[in-house]
Amino acid sequence: MITRNTDDVVGAVAQPQMSGRYAKRLMSLVLASGLLACAAAIAADVPITTQVVDALNKVYGSHPGFRANHAKGVVVTGSFKASPEAAKLSRSPLFNGSTIPVTVRFSDSGGVPNVPDGSPGANPHGMAIKFHLPGGVDTDMVIVSLKFFPVGSGEDFRDLLLAISASPPEAPKPTTLDKFFASHPNAPKAFGTVSTPDSFADEEYYGIDAFIFVNKTGQKQAVRYQMVPEKLVHLTPEEASKKTPDFLIDDLPHRITQKPVVFHLKAQMAEPQDQTKDPSEPWPDGRKVVDLGVLTLDKPVGNSFEAQKRLLFLPTSLTDGIELSDDPLPAVRAGAYGVSFGRRSQ
Ligand code: HEM
Repeated sequence: MITRNTDDVVGAVAQPQMSGRYAKRLMSLVLASGLLACAAAIAADVPITTQVVDALNKVYGSHPGFRANHAKGVVVTGSFKASPEAAKLSRSPLFNGSTIPVTVRFSDSGGVPNVPDGSPGANPHGMAIKFHLPGGVDTDMVIVSLKFFPVGSGEDFRDLLLAISASPPEAPKPTTLDKFFASHPNAPKAFGTVSTPDSFADEEYYGIDAFIFVNKTGQKQAVRYQMVPEKLVHLTPEEASKKTPDFLIDDLPHRITQKPVVFHLKAQMAEPQDQTKDPSEPWPDGRKVVDLGVLTLDKPVGNSFEAQKRLLFLPTSLTDGIELSDDPLPAVRAGAYGVSFGRRSQ
């Protein structure tokens, strides 16, 4: 598009009957178009993983030392024990039935490190789990309280973030975000699936991306994870607005010392006709859900604030028996998490 305009302008400059002033104006247009073409070429060279982190920084600002997204969090530890059903679905050492130590970080959404936990901007809440497998190998699960993702690709996520930053409250209607929502109807629907819990322990978290389980006989099954609490407790927006700014972060370590917090890890099983490539399209509610095991969280981490700085959870950190599907998000996410980790570690 820019190239064609540039050619048109160059063609016009070549006309011999043109006045000097007009030629000068056109020449500056040529230069400007050339610069624009150059800028576009540079932008095209920036990997999408960097572009989304830049877009996150644009929406939330840059906060040195903090994650570009899910900046505010708390770390606890515990263990996972798989059910016999899990071992039938996947040969992963994660599901061999042994007791596996875990490090878990719960978080508020967004890149603002002091976001009030009860504010709508802190939704959806995140849960990132590092399973410390025998032999010193880790595998990660990075999940969130949205039931499905607003968009299905890194490019659309970048555009959603840019639309948010271009739509402040005073922006004329329809805003860029209104237009984005009109062309991506699952985005507002996805945001409609979250509300503030009364505790990180009383929330359910979804894997959203599809992964492929492979069992001992080589059988494959597409799954999406669900992390289900013992009880689900959500607040009304009014109740949430009255909570103290750190009520979720403060509650968890305290709660764990009173009584272990328990979740059930489950797998929603795809039917052969279910697509796996679009995380903004949930599978039908009636799909079979299999209990994969119990996650027990029983120890706060002394200096959680410092501990979280060193942690990097990657949705692509998998084991034998768990594979990526054709869902493009985990790879984009892993790249973006790496970019964010690089920036926050400087
Ligand atoms: C293209 C899509 C996405 C992009 C670009 C993206 C980007 C990011 C970035 C840059 C971070 C900070 C990472 C760090 O500094 O360690 C982050 C954190 C996080 N993201 Fe995403 N994200 C995406 C989709 C998702 C999805 C689909 C989920 C859940 C299913 C998710 C859940 C989380 C969680 C829980 C964290 C906090 C991890 C932690 O505690 O260290 N994100 N995301």
